[in-house]
Amino acid sequence: MPDTPIAVRCRVNGIDATLHGHPMTRLLDALRIELHLTGTKEGCGEGECGACSISLDGRLVNSCLVPLVQAGGSEIVTIEGVAQGDRLHAVQEAFIAFGGAQCGICTPGMILAAVTLLERTPNPGEDEVKEALAGNLCRCTGYIRIFEAVLEACRRTRTASDSPGLRREPSAAAERVCATRPALGVGPQRHEKKDGGASR
Ligand code: FES
Ligand code: FES
Repeated sequence: MPDTPIAVRCRVNGIDATLHGHPMTRLLDALRIELHLTGTKEGCGEGECGACSISLDGRLVNSCLVPLVQAGGSEIVTIEGVAQGDRLHAVQEAFIAFGGAQCGICTPGMILAAVTLLERTPNPGEDEVKEALAGNLCRCTGYIRIFEAVLEACRRTRTASDSPGLRREPSAAAERVCATRPALGVGPQRHEKKDGGASR
């Protein structure tokens, strides 16, 4: 593994982006610091809590475990890319309606986990919902409201076939972020992991 900074091209929330850093820079840090996409949270930093969940080529991954070098050519969706403009995803609406968030640290990861589930399984049962969220920990709400919110979102997406999936077109706000992002060079290199244990 070269020890020199690299530039990695990928698409983030429907926008072409170039991320810079050490090959083992955590994708979590590259997204938060270079692109200012701070909706992705850090909880444990060790792949245990799911707070840093993002969609990477349609797979739910813990971005604290993904080295920058593995993101080349990928399509990434963060919580900032889930809504379509002002139109929230059904999962986001249900979280609001059912009180599925308190402090909000786990919420972006929970929502990405639920949205990714609905992308591949449009009509999941309760057990599938629980299994899909099993890697996401919440310290605040208990899980009942969260499960209820996701199940309600499932019901809504069954009856509304035009419900948005993970967005592919950039929002105006996301365009601004990518247009103005600074070239930071080498990013933080905390918690470098060489096992590439990205997915769960
Ligand atoms: Fe906990 Fe990434 S911050 S899994
Ligand atoms: Fe606080 Fe889940 S809402 S950790």
